[in-house]
Amino acid sequence: MTITVVVLISGRGSNLQSIIDAVARGELPVRVAVVISNEADALGLDRAQQAGIETRVLSHRGFADRNDYDVALRDLIAEYDPDLIVLAGFMRILGPQFVSHFDGRIINIHPSLLPKYRGLDTHARALADGASEHGASVHFVTTDLDAGPIIIQTKVPIYPDDSPQILADRVLQEEHRILPQAIHWFAEDRLRIAQGRVSLDGDTRPEQGLALHNP
Ligand code: GAR
Repeated sequence: MTITVVVLISGRGSNLQSIIDAVARGELPVRVAVVISNEADALGLDRAQQAGIETRVLSHRGFADRNDYDVALRDLIAEYDPDLIVLAGFMRILGPQFVSHFDGRIINIHPSLLPKYRGLDTHARALADGASEHGASVHFVTTDLDAGPIIIQTKVPIYPDDSPQILADRVLQEEHRILPQAIHWFAEDRLRIAQGRVSLDGDTRPEQGLALHNP
């Protein structure tokens, strides 16, 4: 069965591209109905258009408050009646009303081994801590920022002469692998979320930090 997906972006859209490419290769039973950006100049919008995917821009500027934006975004997304909403570099915090409306149907890719380094500048923070490893996580979105149940994580090593950019590039390669993987599991109806825990094919995922998937 093909599921309907809405992808939200704010910028470059390389994770969006990984979805587009997996669909084009016939590996992902997904129809991306629309790509929505809160930034009009997001490069990811060009990527979507080149793939023949509808694009919409809903700028957060001009809304009286966060909740008003969330309501407008919720209504825009609802037009497409998605099975799944994918946050692929969407740099806005979504409030409780939005999240509860699409409960269990929103996933996010985050560039760290959650619960480490929620929020921004994850690569620089990992380097500043002298960490020996870093990574990326795909998780269900809840009202707690970057704290929803983890679906899949992947690790990369940190080397002594890494810069934040070099480390970000290494992590990004992994993001492009695990985001399509998580969407694939969701599309095949293999993921379940109950009591804040994710299960795959009926097996509860191990505790955070152990749900690792390495090549
Ligand atoms: C990715 O590294 C993604 O994990 C991160 O933004 C980047 C977007 O890149 N997302 C977050 O930090 C969300 N908290 P992309 O636009 O090339 O996919």
